[in-house]
Amino acid sequence: MVTPTPADKFTFGLWTIGYNGTDPFGGPTRPALDVVHAVEKLAELGAYGLTFHDDDLFAFGSTDAERQNQIDRLKQVLADTGLVVPMVTTNLFSPPVFKDGGFTSNDRAVRRYALRKVLRQIDLGAELGAKTLVMWGGREGAEYDAAKDIRSALERYREGVNLLSEYVIDKGYDIRFAIEPKPNEPRGDILLPTVGHALAFIGSLEHPEMVGLNPEVGHEQMAGLNFAAGIAQALYHGKLFHIDLNGQRGIKYDQDLVFGHGDLHNAFALVDLLENGGPEGGQAYDGPRHFDYKPSRTEDETGVWDSAAANMRTYLLLKERAAAFRADPEVKEALAAARVAELAEPTLGAGEGYAELLADRSAFEDFDPDVYFGGKGFGFVRLQQLATEHLLGAR
Ligand code: GCO
Ligand code: MN
Ligand code: MN
Repeated sequence: MVTPTPADKFTFGLWTIGYNGTDPFGGPTRPALDVVHAVEKLAELGAYGLTFHDDDLFAFGSTDAERQNQIDRLKQVLADTGLVVPMVTTNLFSPPVFKDGGFTSNDRAVRRYALRKVLRQIDLGAELGAKTLVMWGGREGAEYDAAKDIRSALERYREGVNLLSEYVIDKGYDIRFAIEPKPNEPRGDILLPTVGHALAFIGSLEHPEMVGLNPEVGHEQMAGLNFAAGIAQALYHGKLFHIDLNGQRGIKYDQDLVFGHGDLHNAFALVDLLENGGPEGGQAYDGPRHFDYKPSRTEDETGVWDSAAANMRTYLLLKERAAAFRADPEVKEALAAARVAELAEPTLGAGEGYAELLADRSAFEDFDPDVYFGGKGFGFVRLQQLATEHLLGAR
């Protein structure tokens, strides 16, 4: 069960396994990785698909012929291996022209150029059968308050996403958009910094049904937030269009560790939610399990493939542990004692409104909170310990 197969829908960004180890303090530790070799290795490891930014596949500034050659090479290796491209994304952050953003640069010509770059990548995504276009606006933000009019920036962001939606509708493409929030890095403050901010923004769009989220484990954790809880809210609003899995240890720079190599408890809760949190206890999300991690700067190519395999293996181990947790009679009993299911019961009875609630003396006048409470606890700690023991393989 812990051997990945394409049915598990594990996908990797070309920029993840292709990361050469460069950081702001030093140069590359690894040579460039060719896309054909990358896809062959991923197929060998049991992955389902590859995702990429335009500039990952063909270097920024490539001629049309160079671009087409890389597309053809990718198509060939996809055909040879059976891997698919379920998502594409656009690089609006590496070329220096985007240092103040793409959709929200103060410079209007840059904004127009950015939109054209995304439109081109949408066409390529559609051609390859991608169903999701991720928008990570890492440069959409500022370091200085007076330098960016946030309301105008949001209005330009909105204008951009509306235009892209209109394009997809007119072209008849089967593509949806997924916004990826991040609080900071590379900008001091990034627009749409968390799942919650992005959800509110989506509500302002002309085609909100076409736009959802691509939350990343590390990004929410960089903001000190509970990722599994954020995903639950994204699911609640029907907005979990895609997901970036990785590991992060606390509030610091974006570590992009292997999935589970950060907050393992939260990773367990997340896998349990994705796999067992559906209406009938089945999957709550059936899209790609996409890893957006970075093989550490200390590793050679062997370490790249070891870490790619580690992401998938950890996910499957957590899935196995979560299934055992859900099947354990003692867990069922502890869940009942903690009255977790009671929260699904509406607070008002059928046909009840505020008038009936006001008329119900047992709800207030005759309700003695101290007597009712009577010192009873919920037993949440016992439940968490049971989860921990399953996570540790102790049960
Ligand atoms: C980051 C982001 C990116 C995006 C990617 C997809 O922090 O660098 O996570 O890796 O996921 O650009 O659009
Ligand atoms: Mn990231
Ligand atoms: Mn990401």
